[in-house]
Amino acid sequence: MLRRLYHDQPESFAFTAANQTWAEAQITKYPEGRQASAVIPLLWRAQEQEGWLSKPALETVADMLDMAYIRVLEVASFYFMFQMQPVGSLAHIQICGTTSCMICGAEDLIAVCREKIADKPHQLSADGKFSWEEVECLGACTNAPMAQIGKDYFEDLTADGFAKMLDDLAAGKVPTAGPQNGRYSSEPLFGLTSLKEYDSGKTQYNASAQLAADLGDSIKRIDGTEVPILTPWVGKDGVVAGRAAEGQPPKPAPTPKPAVKQAEEAKKAEKPKAAKAAAKADKPKVKKDAAKSDTADDLKQLKGVGPALEKKLHDNGVTTFAQIAAWTADDITDMDDKLSFKGRIARDGWVDQAKLLASGEETEFSKKVAKGDVYED
Ligand code: FES
Repeated sequence: MLRRLYHDQPESFAFTAANQTWAEAQITKYPEGRQASAVIPLLWRAQEQEGWLSKPALETVADMLDMAYIRVLEVASFYFMFQMQPVGSLAHIQICGTTSCMICGAEDLIAVCREKIADKPHQLSADGKFSWEEVECLGACTNAPMAQIGKDYFEDLTADGFAKMLDDLAAGKVPTAGPQNGRYSSEPLFGLTSLKEYDSGKTQYNASAQLAADLGDSIKRIDGTEVPILTPWVGKDGVVAGRAAEGQPPKPAPTPKPAVKQAEEAKKAEKPKAAKAAAKADKPKVKKDAAKSDTADDLKQLKGVGPALEKKLHDNGVTTFAQIAAWTADDITDMDDKLSFKGRIARDGWVDQAKLLASGEETEFSKKVAKGDVYED
């Protein structure tokens, strides 16, 4: 199937307060400049909140992670765990249609979906509560045929049992996840043939099914209130472990090592150090000195520069449009490293913007800034 943006999009998207707090906490897990790593958890939470991923939801996540919209769409459209169109408000049924399941009766399950939900996949049922689709192997082939409903697997299904399961769901009941034919997990149908001594002392269901039964929430969506948000990597002072806070004193110097050890380490490091020094010497320096003689410009007039980046630029001796306008490709690479934000300078076209601003012209963005409409970071 084609996975693309749905034709009918909502006006806007916003995380609920609980989900926003959760999402911001997730972002702190990743090193500065690598926030894009949080894209899948954030998309998943947006989908849990709304049931599917709308264009405004994708854009919200992209903005939070400072990613290009297309990059986030690429992720969302690649994985079929992400729904690109509205799904049933109660449950979206994913029927595995791959070899084992197909041989064991997946087509019968799909017939039940066509009869009870909608004729075509991704169509909502008449009451809007259900939708269905056929998916590729979900990795439970020994318990074929199977379906994923909400967060759980329902395995060893028959058409009749599956039809009753849908009726139960519609009636507000939560069916027990796991094998539906009496199997505990994926042991032989006629009982264990080995390791029989481990057959005693089991819980009623296997671990996954037992947890689902205990929670009774197969189809309940995560809404940010389930468990406290744990961010042990963020200290009481709000600083992420291993990252320096603004204005924080420098880390204490490491305890001196014994002389012999020092000599050994110096020898080991000799080569790379020399190479590094040579590379450094080759690398052109961003012209810091110019800052001393010029009056500072408001660098936030550059699209892509907010207060935090402006401060970093100042810290690196860059305070005027003229300096940025004169950057070469090597200067840009050098500054990309210093700002820990690879590609941003080129992406937002700082040099071209700076050339205009340095010559006294305005850009569309600087006009907005002058009006006090925006700032970016
Ligand atoms: S073939 Fe259906 S789960 Fe693998």
